[in-house]
Amino acid sequence: MSFDLILFGGTGDLVWRKIMPALFQAFRHGSLPAGGRIVGVARDDLSDDQYRALIKSRFDNVELAKRPSDEEFARFAALLGYLRMDLSNPSDYGRLAARLAERPADVVVMYVATAPGLFTVVCEQIAAAGLNGPQTRVVLEKPLGHDLASNRAINKTVRGVLKEEQIFRIDHYLGKPSVQNLFALRFGNALFEPLWRRETIANIQITIAEDLGVEKRGAFYDSTGALRDMVQNHALQLLCAIGMEPPINSHADAIRDEKLKVLRSLKPWTPETLSQHVVRGQYAAGNIDGEAVPAYRDEKGVNPASMTETFVALRTEIANWRWAGVPFYIRTGKRLAGREAHIEVNFRPAPHAIFKSPLANASVANRLVINLQPQDGLELHLLAQADQRTSSRNTQSLAPVQLDLDFDKRFGSERVGAYERLLLDVIDGRLNLFVRSDEQEEAWRWVEPILDAWSSDAAGPRPYAAGTWGPSASSAMIARDGYCWSEEC
Ligand code: BG6
Repeated sequence: MSFDLILFGGTGDLVWRKIMPALFQAFRHGSLPAGGRIVGVARDDLSDDQYRALIKSRFDNVELAKRPSDEEFARFAALLGYLRMDLSNPSDYGRLAARLAERPADVVVMYVATAPGLFTVVCEQIAAAGLNGPQTRVVLEKPLGHDLASNRAINKTVRGVLKEEQIFRIDHYLGKPSVQNLFALRFGNALFEPLWRRETIANIQITIAEDLGVEKRGAFYDSTGALRDMVQNHALQLLCAIGMEPPINSHADAIRDEKLKVLRSLKPWTPETLSQHVVRGQYAAGNIDGEAVPAYRDEKGVNPASMTETFVALRTEIANWRWAGVPFYIRTGKRLAGREAHIEVNFRPAPHAIFKSPLANASVANRLVINLQPQDGLELHLLAQADQRTSSRNTQSLAPVQLDLDFDKRFGSERVGAYERLLLDVIDGRLNLFVRSDEQEEAWRWVEPILDAWSSDAAGPRPYAAGTWGPSASSAMIARDGYCWSEEC
């Protein structure tokens, strides 16, 4: 099968940091279909060879194991080409059409990795140039809009020129092997299903922590913030994967229908929950791995008086029969104490105690931890009899133990990465791991009251020292329910 992959924003960060390395991995693994062309599109005046040289130089920033040798790059580079285009100039799309017509491909993927402001322009111009035929697929990166209205406007334009099954909205968290494993855990095994409900689960905690700051994206991030950057998409998609009902089959719409139901069931915000169940923070100067790092407001591109949040913790509920009353906590932030993402499923304690089980231990056991990164695995925390020799009938006490499954060790850490998997899925036309417009709109509808409340709250985000777990209000929020974040228990 032949394909053309057009990368709008072809010299941008996303292309050389994520997309090109992923394409190269697919090429190296032999999974990229033969007969493909990859064309970078940007405003810079570059020849094909200059573009190849640019991409080659960028591979120096990629981790060593994923860098091509000269010989490998020479073979990969044969797929690469470049087209200079001003994306707001209709006649430039004619040149793109001519390039595509040189060799009609079975599949044409238009990957819009540009600033979000250009999404609608690109889609409209693709259509105006007659490039929206049935073989065309469009990939849209997040953030898709800034709020519900802008998201709807983009979706409306895109759907005006392409069918829903031609639109691939990326949330790269769905492509992570660990998230695939979450689906496998829930829907490939019957073991946990009877326990996966309010009767047995006390609370669920989703943590996506980063130790990095805003890096070179200060200006972008300052107009975005953690709620739009991470919660509206990645965190809510994880919540859906945890909370959804088993889909009737593995087809894209069966999965997306179930995720949509979860989003629709999220408890609506009230003034009280907005003030009690949402915490926003912003990092102040601090230390990461023993090195001093600046405050968010001192980062390049950031307004020195910025009110943008770099941390969010919140509590919500899924109001349906399976989950009514079970708190779901989400927290995410930059410059936290470590880079780790995990989901903790905390089961209820035994209903009647016959062992001497110190309370502190009981709360760290009865727990399933789904590790998303840096490790991909599962931990099952249980209580066990600690020392058989000393325990007598009257003094039996329990100690926490854990079962560990390390998927990186079991399957090899060279598994298909998120972007590699998602790019191959686009070329193959598989939509399972992409987000449908109604899911996205529902997620925006749910976060919007938080944005509104913040915009009229002069108090702004709470400061936290870089290298910590965020503002103390985040611990206070969860403590009000009698629970704690894992590192505090
Ligand atoms: C992106 C956000 O979507 O996800 C970034 O825009 C964030 O701010 C990144 O750093 C996190 O992705 P990962 O895969 O490194 O956890």
